[in-house]
Amino acid sequence: MKNSVQYPVYLDYNATTPLDPAVIDAMQEFISPEFGNPSSTHFYGIAPRRAVDKARRQVAALMNCSPFEIVFTGCATESNNIAIKGIASAFKHLGNHIVTTQIEHPAVLEVCAHLERNGFEVTRLPVDAQGLVDVRDVEQAVSDRTILISVMHANNEVGTVQPVEEIAEIARSRGIALHTDAAQTPGKVSVDVQALGVDLMTIAGHKLYAPKGVGALYLREGIVVEPLLHGAGQERGVRPGTENVIAIVGLGMACELAAKNREQDARHMKTMRDLLHAGIEQAVHDVRLNGHPEKRLPNTLSLSFQGVEAGRLLEEIGLDVAASAGAACHSGEVTISHVLTAMGVPEEWAKGTIRLSTGRTTAREDVLLAVRAISDAVNILRSS
Ligand SMILES: Cc1ncc(COP(=O)(O)O)c(C=O)c1O
Repeated sequence: MKNSVQYPVYLDYNATTPLDPAVIDAMQEFISPEFGNPSSTHFYGIAPRRAVDKARRQVAALMNCSPFEIVFTGCATESNNIAIKGIASAFKHLGNHIVTTQIEHPAVLEVCAHLERNGFEVTRLPVDAQGLVDVRDVEQAVSDRTILISVMHANNEVGTVQPVEEIAEIARSRGIALHTDAAQTPGKVSVDVQALGVDLMTIAGHKLYAPKGVGALYLREGIVVEPLLHGAGQERGVRPGTENVIAIVGLGMACELAAKNREQDARHMKTMRDLLHAGIEQAVHDVRLNGHPEKRLPNTLSLSFQGVEAGRLLEEIGLDVAASAGAACHSGEVTISHVLTAMGVPEEWAKGTIRLSTGRTTAREDVLLAVRAISDAVNILRSS
């Protein structure tokens, strides 16, 4: 797809991904000429309806579920809101307790905080130094009042993959619905909902080479949620509103590619990530890896550089490399991410944390350039 280095080298695929050319091709027809409303029963509605149905089959194939169990949404944030608020509303007569973790994305944490302000009780489970939830903590946290467990599939900052399958056994044995925010995982690790044992699962188009503005929610057959929106009944009434056909078609194709190429892509992303890690470790001292050494997304590299401020480092490499910070500096005050805080990363390391994430098209030349830029910048900042 790409054969020369483009500056700055993009190493922020966990933030968002570019569109895959096959995704662009698939969407083209629905930009023009196929403009119809999939709900129209006349000629112009036929192709859009078929396209949305096909996309639903493509997403379902990736997740190993029935197309009927897929609801298209506007983003991962919306999928999480429908899942969590939807279960809370539908099951409030059975209990008011929700179990989640301290390291969820704000798209889960803020939803739980909102529910807490409205009478629900929320348990936020801690994680260990590598970002893993202890399944025994889940077991201890649930009670007869628990109606939902929401544990992310993999963390966006450090990449640690949670023991969702084991948590599912607890949820199933206690009759509690289990949601997982899998925004970061399609195309990187398996998102087979039968193997994971989840009842609800969130994904986002723009994290897997589809456009922004589209997501999906897997809703196991028989699981009822109270919708956030009320309207004309599209998406089985769970998410009414005329479908974003163009983006849904893109998401469908992206899921087909993720299913077909996952093992090869994951191997490539991991090779590039490990090359990046090894190169940096060789060139600078006092570097620390955050996240689990093995139970981690194949593309994610969260590194802390002692004695360096992340914002300054990103500025210094800004013309060469695009990456994210694990700590932000506002008016001289450094705010460390809630994920690093929950993992207990010492402040002098946490302050100097950046997240590098490789993608399907990351090339060896990109990595070599990034290694040089990051190492030079760390050495300059340390000596200044
Ligand atoms: C784990 C996780 N959940 C939810 C989101 C929110 O995604 P969106 O902004 O597409 O709604 C993100 C985005 O970074 C994420 O990484």
